[in-house]
Amino acid sequence: MADSKQHIHLIDLNDHPVSWWNKLLSLAHEIRLNPTLYSKACEGKIMGTLFYEPSTRTQMSFQTAMLRLGGTIIGFDNPATSSVAKGENLKDTTKIVSGYADIMVMRHPVEGSVKAAALTAECPVINAGDGGHLHPTQTLTDLFTLKEEKGTLKGLKIGFCGDLKNGRTVHSLIKAMLCFKGTEFVLISTPALSLPAYIKDMLSAAGVPFREADKLEDAISDLDVLYMTRIQQERFASREEYLAQKGAYILDKAKMDKAKPDMIVLHPLPRVDEIAIEVDDDPRAMYFEQAKYGMYIRMALIYTILRGDGTASKLIKGREHKHTVCSNPACITHKETYLPHYFEGSGDILTCEYCDNRTLI
Ligand code: CP
Repeated sequence: MADSKQHIHLIDLNDHPVSWWNKLLSLAHEIRLNPTLYSKACEGKIMGTLFYEPSTRTQMSFQTAMLRLGGTIIGFDNPATSSVAKGENLKDTTKIVSGYADIMVMRHPVEGSVKAAALTAECPVINAGDGGHLHPTQTLTDLFTLKEEKGTLKGLKIGFCGDLKNGRTVHSLIKAMLCFKGTEFVLISTPALSLPAYIKDMLSAAGVPFREADKLEDAISDLDVLYMTRIQQERFASREEYLAQKGAYILDKAKMDKAKPDMIVLHPLPRVDEIAIEVDDDPRAMYFEQAKYGMYIRMALIYTILRGDGTASKLIKGREHKHTVCSNPACITHKETYLPHYFEGSGDILTCEYCDNRTLI
């Protein structure tokens, strides 16, 4: 079942070199300035969008991106209207659609699901969010916003605030920003919602300075970027656990008054209550522009992948361990039980190839 055909997938941005990201950022800039030059760039191509989980921005910006490139789209935004409702497994649905389309974009609530689909897909697959794991095209959106608005990706002090445990956009962006010189992080969360240990370990291994804080008002004053996130109700085991965290962080005008005049506020959206509406009128509030930047970078991404410009990286770098079970209950291997158990590493600790969770054996 290992990936025999080598397509240029985007499962994890860090599978690709930074030079490839930079090319995408430059192309997105050019498309933003001259969109009509690209209006026929993907004529005759079809994009499949499989959204097993709700989405506004990612789904519609991908669809708009393809339409603005002259291509067409197929897909579903509610699995209940597809044969998933009859019990069709992930492999069959995605294998079929990937045979109809030239490129497939997929969002799914389970971690590692998009890589699982890519293993048997017949076209390039783009991860549009897999549970609490990764969201690489949001990361491209964030990088593009930073590049356009701050003029550089180097030397930025970025505060992440809110649900750092479940926020896949946070995980993806931190992993990406590790690659840029001079990055510093301030991780603002309650202990229950702190960043997963495997990402903190990455920060330590990379020698990137970071500190943890519990009060936004104390941490905001020296940030270049504040990345707010929603407390992700859908990822909690119970409503009681969610309610214990809800409203923990709210960015309002009083807190913005403590921030630097050139700090920018990003948020992947949707927001619930973590940014007061009054902040929207502050010129430093950049989250609506950020969502629009997402369309341009997705145009660049679709165009680049369909041209075959990039490296078809191996999906599986380790090997199958038949009798080892991933210790992450949210991993796709527990739901789609036919999937081979692929792990990287050796010795007592193995890393699941689908969800990146470390399992002690
Ligand atoms: N940022 C983001 O992923 O938004 P949607 O859930 O609306 O796609």
